[in-house]
Amino acid sequence: MPSLPLGIPSDLDRYFYNREKELINLKSLLSTLNQNVANQIIITGHRGIGKSFLLKKLVQELPSNILTAYVDISKIYGIHKGVLTEESIMDNLLEEMNKAIGEESDISLKVYNAGKDILRRIRRKNYDFKEAGSILGIPIPDVTDNYEKLSKFVMEYPQKVVESSEGKINGFVIVIDEFQLIGEINSPEAFFWMFRSYTQDQDNVSYIFTGSTSSSSDIVGKINGINGAFGGRMIQFNVDNFSRDETEGYLKEKVPEIKFTDDGLERFYKCTRGYPSYINSFCNTMSTNIVYDNDRVVEEFYQKIDQIAIKWIFQWATLSKREKCIITVVIDNGPLTWGNLVDKVDFSDRTLAKYLSILKNKGIITHSDRKYKIDDHMLSAWLKYRKENDGFYPP
Ligand SMILES: Nc1ncnc2c1ncn2[C@@H]1O[C@H](COP(=O)(O)OP(=O)(O)O)[C@@H](O)[C@H]1O
Ligand SMILES: [Mg+2]
Repeated sequence: MPSLPLGIPSDLDRYFYNREKELINLKSLLSTLNQNVANQIIITGHRGIGKSFLLKKLVQELPSNILTAYVDISKIYGIHKGVLTEESIMDNLLEEMNKAIGEESDISLKVYNAGKDILRRIRRKNYDFKEAGSILGIPIPDVTDNYEKLSKFVMEYPQKVVESSEGKINGFVIVIDEFQLIGEINSPEAFFWMFRSYTQDQDNVSYIFTGSTSSSSDIVGKINGINGAFGGRMIQFNVDNFSRDETEGYLKEKVPEIKFTDDGLERFYKCTRGYPSYINSFCNTMSTNIVYDNDRVVEEFYQKIDQIAIKWIFQWATLSKREKCIITVVIDNGPLTWGNLVDKVDFSDRTLAKYLSILKNKGIITHSDRKYKIDDHMLSAWLKYRKENDGFYPP
C-alpha cells in the first residue's frame, strides 16, 4: 500500500510537489529584507490545502542571512486546552525566535542570552526585563502591566537581533500559523494593532500570518481589512487546491503504483477536490493491484471514508456538544441564515453567537451571502455518510 504523509513529513523534499510560483513569489517578497524593506504577508486557504507545508518549505529554502521563527497558534491553543491568551502567544514567539538565534553562530552570545534570560523570568513569573532590555537597547516601560513589558521586548527583539549582527543577518521572518485562532483572545483587534505599530518602524522583520480561513473572513478583515490594523497594507494571497492536471502530475510522481482509468482519475479528483491532504489519505487506502475506474473509486471512497476523513474524526472528538449541534443542523438543512439557525437550535442567541464565532475561528464554518455554511466538503461527506449508515451522527 502507498504511504503518503498525513502531516508535514520531516523529509520535506521527498514529498513536496510543485508550488513553484508561490515559492518564487514569497521569496521575492522576503528578499527585500536585504534592502531594509519589510513586507507583511497574509496567506489564506482551506484546511489541508498545503499552507503549512509550503511555509516549511519556504523557511528551509531561505538564505542563511535570514532567520526564521515558526509559531503554530493551534499548538498553543491545544496545550492551553482552548484558552488562548496574548501572553501565551508572546511566550511562544520568544521561544521560537530564540531557537532560531541559538542555531545561528553569527549572533553574539550576549543577544541570545538576553532572550533566554527573559524566557526564564517569564516561566518564574518574574517580569523584570530591564537588564536584558538594556543589553539590546530595548527600553522596558516602567509599568506594572507584565504583558506590556513582555510584548515590548518580544516585538522589538527580532529587529534588534538584526541590528546587533553587524551586517551578518539581514532579516527575520516570523511565520504565525493557524492565526485565525487569534480570534479567540479577548481583543484580537488590539493584538493586531500592536503588531502593526511595531512593524511600522521595523525594516528587517517580516511576519507571515497564515490560517485556515477564507480571504473574506472576519478575522482577515480585522487584521487587513479597510478598518483593520494593517488597513490593506499586508500582501495577501490564497493557496489553492491542486488543479486536475496538478493532481495527475502529483499522483504520477509520488504514487505511480496506483493505476487509474481516465474516468477513475476524474472521480478521484472530484472526491478529493485536489486537496493534498485528502489526496494523500485516499491514496493510502488504495491497492496497487487494482485499476481504479469510476465505480471502484466511488466504492473505495465510501468504504474507507473514516480513513480518508481521519483528520476530521480527531477534530470532531475535540468539539463541544454545542459546536457539534450547530454543525449537524447546518448539514441537515443546508446553508442557513442567522434567523433560521436561531430557530433550529435549542439554545439562546448569545450562546449561538459564541459558538458560531468559535467555529468560524476554527475554520469549520464560514459566513458568506448572509448564510452559515460548512467549509469543508469532506467533513460534510463524512457526517452525512455516518448518519445514513448508523442512523445518527457520531457522538
Ligand atoms: N505541495 C505539496 N506537495 C505534497 N504534499 C502536500 C503539499 N501541500 C500539502 N501536502 C500534504 O497535504 C497535507 C496537508 O498540508 P498542510 O500544509 O498541513 O495543510 P494546511 O496547513 O493548509 O492545513 C499534508 O499531509 C502535506 O503532506
Ligand atoms: Mg497548517
